[in-house]
Amino acid sequence: MSKRVAILISGGGSNMVALADSMTGDHPARPCLVLSNIPDAGGLEKARAMGIPTAIVNHKSYEGRATFEAALNTVLAAARPDIICLAGFMRVLTADFTQRWAGKILNIHPSLLPKYKGLNTHARALAAGDKAAGCSVHEVTAELDGGPILGQAIVPITPDDTPETLAARILPLEHQLYPAVLRRFAGGDTLPLILP
Ligand code: GRF
Repeated sequence: MSKRVAILISGGGSNMVALADSMTGDHPARPCLVLSNIPDAGGLEKARAMGIPTAIVNHKSYEGRATFEAALNTVLAAARPDIICLAGFMRVLTADFTQRWAGKILNIHPSLLPKYKGLNTHARALAAGDKAAGCSVHEVTAELDGGPILGQAIVPITPDDTPETLAARILPLEHQLYPAVLRRFAGGDTLPLILP
């Protein structure tokens, strides 16, 4: 029986597309839902074109995190996901939510965790004079960007790199890393994967 994967997005959904495209053939999982907190997120149209059920839970329609997450949980419970992939989902989730789905949530973060949790990761790596940057897939826990690391992809930083050029070089690696980690995770393998 395939594992059911819900993918949460807030934007263009390029990672969602890479994940959904990878779940074919003998892959142990299939996408069951793409959910966005942003009603006009570009990724929703892409999901519809791929025939994946979509949902919108607009965080602006709820008074606080608790009521927003209650609505999120209602939609997710109906989709019965075995795994939840955050893919450019830009809302911070509470400990209650991460506990409710403990062990089932993955996220991709554009830094070599545990360095640079939070935002503006590439600018921070450049400002620190780092020689390498990259992205990480990790299990989501109550600590923001703090859960067990399941995979990383690494790129060298060049002297003329900007946050934009770094992001452009790392995003395609995200599209390789996240599907590779999801396939292993869905098959019960949580050994960290390092690319290349
Ligand atoms: C990616 O850079 C990811 O690392 C970060 O947000 C971006 C999402 O891009 N979490 P997309 O919506 O998947 O294209």
